[in-house]
Amino acid sequence: MVSNYPWWRDGVVYQVYLRSFADGNGDGTGDIPGLISRLPYIASLGVDAIWVNPWYTSPLNDGGYDVADYRNIHESFGTLEDAKLLFTEARDKGLRVLVDLVPNHTSSEHPWFRAALDSPPGSLERGRYHFVPGRGGGGVEPPNDWKSVFGGPAWTRVADGQWYLHLFDVTQPDLNWSNREVRAEFIEILRFWLDLGASGFRVDVAHALVKKEGYPDVGEDTEELLATPDREDHPTWDRPELHEIVQEWRSVVDEYPDAVMIAEAWLPNWSRLAEYMKPGRYHQAFDFLFLRSPWQPSAMRQTIVEALQASATVGAVPTWVLSNHDVVRHATRYGLPPDVRVRNWVLDGDRSLLDPETGLRRARAAAVLMLALPGSAYLYQGEELGLPEVYDLPEAVLDDPVWERSGRKEKGRDGCRVPIPWKTTGPSFGFGDGGSWLPQPRGWGELSVESQEGVPGSTLELYRRAVAARARHLEGDDHLEWQTVEGDVLAFRRGDDVMCLVNMGVTPVPRPEGKVVLASGPLPDDLVPPDTAIWVVN
Ligand code: GLC
Repeated sequence: MVSNYPWWRDGVVYQVYLRSFADGNGDGTGDIPGLISRLPYIASLGVDAIWVNPWYTSPLNDGGYDVADYRNIHESFGTLEDAKLLFTEARDKGLRVLVDLVPNHTSSEHPWFRAALDSPPGSLERGRYHFVPGRGGGGVEPPNDWKSVFGGPAWTRVADGQWYLHLFDVTQPDLNWSNREVRAEFIEILRFWLDLGASGFRVDVAHALVKKEGYPDVGEDTEELLATPDREDHPTWDRPELHEIVQEWRSVVDEYPDAVMIAEAWLPNWSRLAEYMKPGRYHQAFDFLFLRSPWQPSAMRQTIVEALQASATVGAVPTWVLSNHDVVRHATRYGLPPDVRVRNWVLDGDRSLLDPETGLRRARAAAVLMLALPGSAYLYQGEELGLPEVYDLPEAVLDDPVWERSGRKEKGRDGCRVPIPWKTTGPSFGFGDGGSWLPQPRGWGELSVESQEGVPGSTLELYRRAVAARARHLEGDDHLEWQTVEGDVLAFRRGDDVMCLVNMGVTPVPRPEGKVVLASGPLPDDLVPPDTAIWVVN
């Protein structure tokens, strides 16, 4: 390992969706005490850090991405004391904790927004948000054509006739980042969590923040949730002015040794994403293009090459991710034909199109591939168990605002947020003593930690082996060298001695020479079967 190679550059981070991880007090919702009790499990995966989704005081209209108090914990998740304990207990186990920072919008229950509603147009209180007059006679039309990412217009009218901006739910008013008070407040929020023991931040919708002055029409529709169009000077996304704000944050974060900031920015290409990782800005940014790549070697290779090249131009490395709390779990995605629009399929697609065995086989191979790549990797809770998307949740239990705001045309993201199974049996498969806030599928126990722990070949043991092999063979090194191999395969060399090969074709391929240290599935007759990834060392 290279000395002074920072931990985060090739770190593996485990994402905890707190509501659905472990319930310590039996109220059906996961919480910080539950998470603390499961830290030994997370440590046993060999990861370097955890990222915890928002845990703040919140009406939970968007799962906590609607923050009412940035310096307190939602009562069903625990207390500030619990958070502090988490930081120390995690650190004792060699784990850092990243907090989720939500700077684009607050909750409509945030005291600032309440004060804004109680104050007249033009007041200081309104100046912290985007309150503007409407168009048309009497200002009855929204100020422009901007749409909410969750569906419907991005503007809502208040009693005195002004409109306020919300790129997400109506209960998530966008902050005005040209306002000095807003900027100063977030500096204090960063310090608050860093002083308490956090090791940094995952920054929510980092490509939003600044809106174009004058609020011009966007003039087009975006169909995909969180997809940013590839164009210059977009009025709401990826505005160049936002980097100055980030630089301000970075200078604070840099005062704390080892602390990091990672951007969640859904951008259409790497040349835009690289801007976020220039020196003095974010340490890292998620690569969602890898996540979206079809299971096809040339497409996958191109995505990886572009990510490596573009990030290298700014002295950075990519951050790989296959699943998170916003996307359909990859064990299900990879089990669907490439032309299926996954989000639509979740709502009412032809279920016979899903091949869950292929999905899981590819999901395992994809993890073995991802963990072989230079850069850091984020694992979403439950992917190490091979959990599929729970696409058939009954409509009555859906909680994601996307469901209603899309006019029930998008089922939303609840299917990847179902509480995870710890035990083979029991009322909520070990999640807690009081059931689970979203219903778990009947067969969930077979996928539990208990069912997989110590079982050779289980997905859980595969992840443990992969993370350990990565630490042993690849730590502290960014180099990757592509190999030319016959067939529909991806093959590259890493470090001093590792070769990773992924068979994405339909026929088995010969196994490369060397000692197999990792295989995502069985290797009959010394061949690498379809949808299988291996590492050999020689
Ligand atoms: C991010 C979060 C997502 C949330 C949205 C609005 O994309 O990951 O869950 O709904 O921002 O805050």
